This record gives sequence, C-alpha cells and structure tokens, in this order.
Amino acid sequence: MKKINKLFLKKKSMPLDSFLDKVLYDRDFGYYQKKNPFGEKGDFITAPNISNLFGEMITIWLVSFWEKLRKPKKINFIEMGPGNGDLCLSILQTLKNFPQVYKSVNIILYERSETLKKIQKKRINTQKVKWIKNLKLIKDGPVIFFGNEFLDALPIKQFKKVNGKLFEKYVEINKKNNVNFFFRKSIKKPIAKLKNFEAIKNNIIIEYPEHGFKELNEVCKKIRQLNGGALFIDYGYIKEHNFDTLQSVKKHKFNDILQNVSEADITSLVNFNLYKEYFNMKNLCVDKIISQSEFLQKLGIMERYKILCNKLDNNEKSNLYGRIRRLIHPKMMGENFKVIFAKNKKCSFTIDLN
Ligand SMILES: C[S@@+](CC[C@H](N)C(=O)[O-])C[C@H]1O[C@@H](n2cnc3c(N)ncnc32)[C@H](O)[C@@H]1O
Repeated sequence: MKKINKLFLKKKSMPLDSFLDKVLYDRDFGYYQKKNPFGEKGDFITAPNISNLFGEMITIWLVSFWEKLRKPKKINFIEMGPGNGDLCLSILQTLKNFPQVYKSVNIILYERSETLKKIQKKRINTQKVKWIKNLKLIKDGPVIFFGNEFLDALPIKQFKKVNGKLFEKYVEINKKNNVNFFFRKSIKKPIAKLKNFEAIKNNIIIEYPEHGFKELNEVCKKIRQLNGGALFIDYGYIKEHNFDTLQSVKKHKFNDILQNVSEADITSLVNFNLYKEYFNMKNLCVDKIISQSEFLQKLGIMERYKILCNKLDNNEKSNLYGRIRRLIHPKMMGENFKVIFAKNKKCSFTIDLN
C-alpha cells in the first residue's frame, strides 16, 4: 500500500485537482480503487441504491429517446461511472418489458476503478453488457450517455480572487506527513480559460473541473459524430454559488477533507450552468436544467408506485413510499439533485419527453 507521501513523489505540493485525482483514483492508494463505498455498510447511498424505480424511470427515458430516434436497429447506451452496478441491473430487468429496445441496445459500462469493475462484472453477467476502457473505441451510433453522480466525482481546480488577482488552491505535505491547503498565485494559462465562462467569471471562489472537461470532450465528440445525447444527474446548483463546495463523507457523515485521506469520499457540488456553457461551446444543445423531482415525476414514478401498491402489503407500501419520497421530496434529493441533458443539434428529443 502506498503511503500518502508516495503520492507526492518528490514534490512538496500539488494543485487540488491532481491531489483529488490521486487520493480518489490512484491504482494502489485511491479511495475508489480500494473499497465498495455504496450502501448502509459503506459511506454513502445513491439513487440507484435507494430504489429500483430510479432505474425503471431511466429505462423509460431511454426507451422514449430510442423511439424519438426512429427506433434504430442498434443503439449504444453508455453508463459513465456505474458504481456497484445497481442501475445497470435495474435497466436490464426493466428492458425485458420492451423486447424491441432490449434487442437493439448495447449497454457499455465506462468505469475507472478496477475494484468496482470487478464488482460490476461479478453482478452483471450477460452478453448485453460490455466494459470499455476508452470512449474513442465507440464506433457506432446513435449514442446515449448516462451518468448518475459521475460529475461530482470528477476532480476540480479551485481558485480564489483577491484584489482582482487569482490564486489557485494547492495541497502541501510536511515532514510529518501532514497535508495542508495553501493558495499560490495562478499562472496565466488557466486564467484565460476561466474567462470563457459566464457562470464563474464574476465569482470570488471559482471551481473548475479541468479533468472532467477533458473526459467529456470525447463524449461530446461522439454525440456530434454519431447522433444522440448525454444525461447527467447530480447534486449541485443553478443559481450563482460563491463558496467552496468541496466535501468529504465517511460512514454517512461529513468528514474533514484532509482527514482519513483515501478512506473517505471527496466530491464537489456541480455547477450546472458551467456544464451547460461547456456543452454549448462543444456545439451541443442543452435543454432547460430541471430538478430530479420534476424529472422522475414527469417519467411517471408516482403512477408506477400506485400500480405496484396493488401487489404490496402495508409495510411494503410504506417502505417503497419512503424510498420514493427520498428521491423526490424537495428537502431531500428532489431539489438538491438536478438533471442536465446535452444533445446533438439535430435531435428533437427533450429532457421531459416532448
Ligand atoms: C459517486 S460514484 C456513482 C456511482 C453510480 N453511478 C451510482 O449512482 O451509484 C462515481 C462513479 O464514477 C466512477 N468514476 C469517477 N471518475 C471516473 C472517470 N473519469 N471515468 C470513469 N469512471 C469514473 C467511480 O469509480 C464511481 O463508479
């Protein structure tokens, strides 16, 4: 096992995003490479872990998109960061009710963590699903990309503006192997990039997912070349948000970011308007960003609940209701989570199925 000082190699410090990349994804040391963080026994619970109905609704959305694309004989559905595979299992199960779509769709999983990939391969055992190391290998379309809590897991850079000058957040290690944050005056290159985005231009604290944008560049390229779109659901904000959103979670509780390094998850809130501008710059169209609550209700989650209730006893009904409430209640995940849909300019399908 690598010790934290090994991550720094011979350097004494590194920018925040390089640090996050290492503590989350380093092959020996990274949080996501070492453990299965999902569920009650893990560190956090995501929507696909809460209820199968989340995956059912994503499947309904996928089926409607496929219909709007005039029922292509082949379509690639690519899940970005599939975690423990819960969503993929729900989709496979639900698609059995739509045999024509089931026949047409190839499900491709794109996962960076070798440990999670092993878990996925153990749980998902069908020819329908393939794993891919590089998005460049996708040759056929149309393509539909999907990611739940994928964007928040991408490392960010952080900057602070003081008297009009930009300073970038770094992490340093001292002789006792303790890590600390500090700010260093920014070099010219990132400053030029940041000025391109209205969503952060006037912020005092600026968060910028440089790694994520590089990754999404390939997603955008495939959508432009092969037709289709990308749907991302995540916690984040639309209105201007001028503070540090980095957070760490361990065993379902907030954790100091520099404590339990590589034993706790570290994420940031997604700046949805920034992603919208990014997708627009890449020549894609972005629909209105909506809340998870609105999205799941438009797809019919309550109607599905009512149908299922006919077969459930009272305890089961209240259990299922509790889970749906967690997904759609405005004070729970309903409003904190937002949905963004970027698509090929020729595509007339909309986020709310019109
Ligand atoms: C917070 S988890 C969400 C998992 C799952 N989507 C869910 O909702 O339960 C983030 C996932 O994205 C994966 N991931 C993060 N960065 C990635 C990247 N650059 N490429 C592929 N997978 C990545 C992680 O390993 C993990 O599976």
